[in-house]
Amino acid sequence: MHNASDFERPVSTWQDIPGWFTWRGGQEEAVAHFGDGSRFVEVGCYLGKSLCSLAEVVRGSGRDIAVTGVDTGRGSGPEGVSAVNAHGPAVEFGGGTFAGLLHRNLIACGAADLVQLLITDSLAAAELFADESLAWVHLDARHDYDSVRADIAAWLPKVRPGGWLSGDDYNRDWFPGVVDAVGDTLPGAEVWWSTQWRWLKP
Ligand SMILES: C[S@@+](CC[C@H](N)C(=O)[O-])C[C@H]1O[C@@H](n2cnc3c(N)ncnc32)[C@H](O)[C@@H]1O
Repeated sequence: MHNASDFERPVSTWQDIPGWFTWRGGQEEAVAHFGDGSRFVEVGCYLGKSLCSLAEVVRGSGRDIAVTGVDTGRGSGPEGVSAVNAHGPAVEFGGGTFAGLLHRNLIACGAADLVQLLITDSLAAAELFADESLAWVHLDARHDYDSVRADIAAWLPKVRPGGWLSGDDYNRDWFPGVVDAVGDTLPGAEVWWSTQWRWLKP
């Protein structure tokens, strides 16, 4: 669990941000695969570790790829087989929201101009995008079965043909709801970067 000293530590790069992100190679694959004019959406950003990494990969590529991050800023609450409230300390640190920390981290990493940040619920955010307008949507919000199914239902129509819908924590031991929701909804989804899942839209 992260604590106040983690949140107070200065940030200048995504590696300085508290989080669990380990699959940068997937982001590099996405940026190499999709061309200019694409938009990526990450749903569930926490303090911006994966989002700031993605912004760095996009900027380094020189490609014209837009990036949107979506998060309530209020955490996922207790979840997983251990019912851990992993984001609770950050919510408490921020007086009920970590949105300020997330935005501060984007600014500190030089990502604030490249990334549009939406502080809102996943399902409400999906309504802001036209159908088949997004190259890649990555789902990393709540990990219970019903939430993952709802996220997939909301974002699937927004992915363009040839685009990717993917998600984090595809691990039955920790998050069986993720594995079951993906399996029941998206036959053909595959393991990607060890603990990610990915579905390629025909
Ligand atoms: C596992 S964390 C994201 C970690 C981040 N992708 C990373 O790797 O650094 C999950 C995040 O989802 C957010 N979240 C949970 N339910 C949500 C919802 N319905 N809409 C938007 N964000 C949500 C939480 O606030 C939390 O920040």
